[in-house]
Amino acid sequence: MASAATETSRAQELLSLKSDYLLPCVYHFYKDPPVIVRGEGCYLFDDVGRRYLDCLSGVAVMNAGHCNPDIIGPAILQIQTLQHTTTIYLTDPILRLAEALAGLTPGDLKRSFFCASGSEAVEGALLTSVLHTGKPRIIATTNSLHGRTRWAMNATGMPMWRTDPFPPDDVSHVPFGDADALADELVKHADQTAAFIAEPIQSNGGINVPPDGYWQRVRKLCDEHEVLLVLDEIQTGFNRTGRWFACEHFGITPDIMTVSKAMGNGFPIAAFITTDAIAQSYTRPGASTHGGNPVNATAALAVIDYHTQHHLGQRAQESGQYLLKELTDLTAQRDHLEPPRGMGLMIGVPVINADGQPDAQLTDQILEHLKDLRVLAGKSGPDRNVLTLMPPLTIERQAIGELIDAIQEATA
Ligand SMILES: Cc1ncc(COP(=O)(O)O)c(C=O)c1O
Repeated sequence: MASAATETSRAQELLSLKSDYLLPCVYHFYKDPPVIVRGEGCYLFDDVGRRYLDCLSGVAVMNAGHCNPDIIGPAILQIQTLQHTTTIYLTDPILRLAEALAGLTPGDLKRSFFCASGSEAVEGALLTSVLHTGKPRIIATTNSLHGRTRWAMNATGMPMWRTDPFPPDDVSHVPFGDADALADELVKHADQTAAFIAEPIQSNGGINVPPDGYWQRVRKLCDEHEVLLVLDEIQTGFNRTGRWFACEHFGITPDIMTVSKAMGNGFPIAAFITTDAIAQSYTRPGASTHGGNPVNATAALAVIDYHTQHHLGQRAQESGQYLLKELTDLTAQRDHLEPPRGMGLMIGVPVINADGQPDAQLTDQILEHLKDLRVLAGKSGPDRNVLTLMPPLTIERQAIGELIDAIQEATA
């Protein structure tokens, strides 16, 4: 196990293994990448003992912090007791988790199907929509990210993630945040459309918060046209935006919701959750080998307890407001930074050049500089120019201060 600090980093050795044995599509950040060997709370540590403030959280996964003892403790006990069966046997954790999710999710969302990755949850949600409505097509949004499997990739609107050269012709895309465009599409194709799928706030697409009234109008349009509303809360869920689920900010409930990432806080678990009525349309046998496995389900139950006991939603709201305000002041002093945007601790800062155009190169330079200042941040947006900040929700005020100081220096 590579955990102890050494005198020289093993980065070159690992880069060479990576270039020999992984597919080239698996890219990494930084010209000079650290080798991460340990995580604790909001911090990651590299193999030469340097400590980094993690402001990406493994892409919105580690909302409750790294190696959180209150989460890994019960999971380790579960590993030592019963690690895996499948859903053909009765086990306790998966059912307790389904019950807990029914209590947490808004409206009539009640029945869960568990799987191991976000992409699979999206596939399941779309399949269920088609089964329930008897209609074959999906409407999705531009600049969305829904996953890597064929249907999820086809629903994805961000060009850089649409790798399939022959996408099936069963998804159309409308601009995110534009309810008129959705209305037009529905007028033309509602009789063929099973569902509209979108992220409540786009994450990988550049931290895009839709205009006021958008979601209420979308909900109404879907109802009028008998099209299901599928909300992908895989990145926004589990208090990232200051509420358990981002749709709560807008006072709407989807017909199907997908969740993953922070639900497991590092354990691979995902689900789609729907109503009693819609669930009744999926009766043919369905199973996911690792879906809701006892270890992952136990971890997810511990995640829910931890978020509840430590008020992570409230903390995300308060820390997010503070960070947003500090970044608003900072970006006002920088010609190449646009004002920050986002909700809770999901915040983006667009980086632009002298002509006001997205500047991906400068964004990469800022990210590298931040890393050298011991802060790990991300990037998003179709032009990869949105500096993306999603620290663990447990981040303390003093660490937010470290982040702001580092951004100040890296963008000077
Ligand atoms: C909103 C959203 N949906 C779906 C996915 C796909 O999840 P996974 O990588 O677990 O398949 C992602 C991944 O980043 C995501 O951000």
